[in-house]
Amino acid sequence: MGLNERMSDASLAVVVLAAGQGTRMKSSRAKVLHELSGVPLIGHVLATAQALEPDHVAVVVRHQRDEVAEFVTEFSPEALMVDQDEVPGTGRALEVALEALPTAFTGDVVVISGDVPLLDSDTLRAVIAHHRDQAAVATLITTVLEDPTGYGRVVRDDHGLVQKVVEERDASTAEAALQEVNAGAYVFQRAAVSDALAGVGTHNAQGEKYLTDVVEALSQAGSAVQAVRVEDSWLLEGINDKAQLGDVQARLNSMIVRGWQLAGVTIVDPASCFIDVGVELAPDVTILPGVQLQGQTVIESNATIGPDTTLLDTSVGEGASVVRTHAEGAEIAAGASVGPFSYLRPGASVGEDGKVGAFVEIKNSILHRGAKVPHLSYIGDAEIGEGTNIGAGAITANYDGVQKHQTTIGAHVKTGSHTVFVAPVEIGDGAYGAAGAVIRRSVPPGALAMSVSTQRNVEGWVEANRKGTPSADAASQASHGKK
Ligand code: UD1
Ligand code: CA
Repeated sequence: MGLNERMSDASLAVVVLAAGQGTRMKSSRAKVLHELSGVPLIGHVLATAQALEPDHVAVVVRHQRDEVAEFVTEFSPEALMVDQDEVPGTGRALEVALEALPTAFTGDVVVISGDVPLLDSDTLRAVIAHHRDQAAVATLITTVLEDPTGYGRVVRDDHGLVQKVVEERDASTAEAALQEVNAGAYVFQRAAVSDALAGVGTHNAQGEKYLTDVVEALSQAGSAVQAVRVEDSWLLEGINDKAQLGDVQARLNSMIVRGWQLAGVTIVDPASCFIDVGVELAPDVTILPGVQLQGQTVIESNATIGPDTTLLDTSVGEGASVVRTHAEGAEIAAGASVGPFSYLRPGASVGEDGKVGAFVEIKNSILHRGAKVPHLSYIGDAEIGEGTNIGAGAITANYDGVQKHQTTIGAHVKTGSHTVFVAPVEIGDGAYGAAGAVIRRSVPPGALAMSVSTQRNVEGWVEANRKGTPSADAASQASHGKK
């Protein structure tokens, strides 16, 4: 065997089957685009494919082709997109993929399904090694299930050699009783599977060209067909309906939670804590019950999150505390305190040791170090300087009905309760604001801004005009003393 042949023998292509309709999902969304822990099913499968460092990745698409292709192109730009034609079935899907691979490629082809998301690259590597050791033409992955419903059954001969795979709908009663199932993941020698597929028909209950039929064809032709039995059946779970999606989601989440616990994160109630695959947590983060950490959220050490908090694409600095909060695209710096009941929208940035308190909404605004918005406020399109305290019930009136405007507040400002900042407006460093101020004009540094009209008290008005009411009685008692 020459060096070139040797090298090409060791070469690898991964084919991801993702052209099926996914009827059982009963959804308008393509099956493989349903998410598990923040990533579509096919994203998990593509990540596994990439981890094998193959020479080629081909993804077979057909149903909702454009949506699936758009995701694949973004996630794995190097992947080859292959369109399946009107002939249905997993066998046809692999056939079109093989036709699209360079003819010079003579290596092994790993076939995996877009709807089997937990199958990992370590398992596949072991299967590829076995396949090569045995010089097999085909190696399938199998597992034994207590309830094999829905899967293809693996039929072995008296010597334990794999004879064929029978789909449930085509199985005899005896075959249907077999508990060893086909995981739908295989390693094939390219030429062998290509030849075998050419002879596969569509004479089955579904009228489809089944990939599984190559197993019988190859073993009848006397070729070496191997099967690797995997003990952890859950790795091989296929998602065909939303009940399976829910089961696999629960499984994956508990694996992710456990992984973070082993990495030093305190997670008080794993069952009520959901962490997407893209999240990063430092040791000594504490996560209280009812927390969802989504997207690319990053949390530094000694921060406490929850209870009952959702963070999407949000960063939280060291030692910060985030309680009963919803945040998207926000930054919370070290030592800051957010919540309870705070809403941080994209572009909200809470500075070091800053505070955002109860019933406060912040959008596209920078709060510098130590700035506080403690109570009942809306802050949008604003910059708030270091050490500034915004009084309870502040509103930035940032929208004139057509355009958004900026509010700029300096350092160490103290605004009174119930202030409206009519943007665009600027408040200078060290300025104060009186309660109830409507700030329409800029305030120079150090000034006290007042905009309230003078208060006038009409003495005895209630007793004179609301005679006999509890208010009038209380007023009269207060002014004449208790009898
Ligand atoms: C398939 C296997 C079955 C195995 C099971 C494991 C066949 C005939 N059956 O059954 O033995 O136990 O997986 O999960 O292969 N697809 C295409 N083009 C098609 C049809 C399907 O690309 O024309 C894709 C689907 O998008 C999916 C994968 O192939 O990602 C499997 O198809 P699916 O219809 O889910 O097959 P199962 O009935 O689950
Ligand atoms: Ca399936």
